[in-house]
Amino acid sequence: MATKIDIFDTTLRDGEQVPGCKLNTIEKLELALKLEALGVDIIEAGFPISSPGDFKSVQEISKIIKHATVCGLTRAVDKDIEAAGEALRHAHKPRIHTGIGTSDSHIKAKFNATRAEILERAAKAVKLARSFVNDVEFYAEDAGRTDNDYLARVVETVIAAGATVVNIPDTTGYCLPQQYADKIAFLMNHVPNIDKAILSCHCHNDLGLATANSVSGVFAGARQVECTINGLGERAGNTSLEEVVMVLKQHSYLGYYTNIKTEMLNPMSRLVSDTMRVPVQPNKAIVGANAFAHSSGIHQDGFLKDSRTYEIITPEEVGADSSKIVLTARSGRSALAYRFRNLGFDFDRNDIDALYQKFLIVADEKKEIENEDLMRMAAEHQNTNNQ
Ligand code: KIV
Ligand code: ZN
Repeated sequence: MATKIDIFDTTLRDGEQVPGCKLNTIEKLELALKLEALGVDIIEAGFPISSPGDFKSVQEISKIIKHATVCGLTRAVDKDIEAAGEALRHAHKPRIHTGIGTSDSHIKAKFNATRAEILERAAKAVKLARSFVNDVEFYAEDAGRTDNDYLARVVETVIAAGATVVNIPDTTGYCLPQQYADKIAFLMNHVPNIDKAILSCHCHNDLGLATANSVSGVFAGARQVECTINGLGERAGNTSLEEVVMVLKQHSYLGYYTNIKTEMLNPMSRLVSDTMRVPVQPNKAIVGANAFAHSSGIHQDGFLKDSRTYEIITPEEVGADSSKIVLTARSGRSALAYRFRNLGFDFDRNDIDALYQKFLIVADEKKEIENEDLMRMAAEHQNTNNQ
């Protein structure tokens, strides 16, 4: 039987930490409703103690979300946890996400503490959070650089204190996919009470490995992935929701699935990009403007014969506009004939041969040949032939 992977969306929290992306309550509410419709299992709505505005956003989101779990972030600090408990009071399924740094660098530089003290603070935070809600997620910040034996003790301690989910963040995007998978596998094999909680992946993209690391974490036993639309997040970003979902779907024979309605991925990406004022890079997997654009002659010829030669996903499956045949100086005759046909010109082979020579001259001067250029070329060609 296939295994369900929970999608924990943190666009409204980690994603919103991107400079210039701050959202007001109305914007957060709109996005939260769309995330629920998309099928995410958990919406991290914000960090209630951080500002009155964010407290209100978490409170209002808690009131309108009916199916997804609504989660609020805290540090392992009493007043944070109390604020989150209050902000989540009206949620149908509330979750408090509390945690503390567990790597030696965090323990020493941030907290000037010892490993034993961090264990104590972690357990205390989880217990306090459990006094407000039944669903408590603990994050071991910088788990990616935390010694595995100590991390296993942290995980065991917080599960014993009542954590239902334990997040293993690669906060700095440091890990390699195999390293991250080994970390999750180590915890699965060395934490005696691991069956009482689920492990979650939260991978940052500093080395461009966030998606690979998250997916490797799933294959090693994690059952939740934390991610954001368009991969937004601190510094180089978080794991991109659309990428993880489509990796698992594309490789469904491996036995994992999510509840995401994939045909909503592109509209969701556009909405987030517009609302958060961050353009999507054109070559971004799944949701970039070029994700279904073919421009070289070899690819275009294959694609026009059978789209599966160069597309492993159909645009419909992810709600993208239909595939595009882009004309550049690297394009071939079949692409040119195809684009002319779309404009209503059914040129034969000799016509296309002649037009192609003219096309190359124009294409060498321009980055991309547009329909107006084609219309002009067609008119000139027809005029010459009629003389
Ligand atoms: O990257 C991280 O470690 C975080 C935690 C607060 C979960 O965002
Ligand atoms: Zn993060």
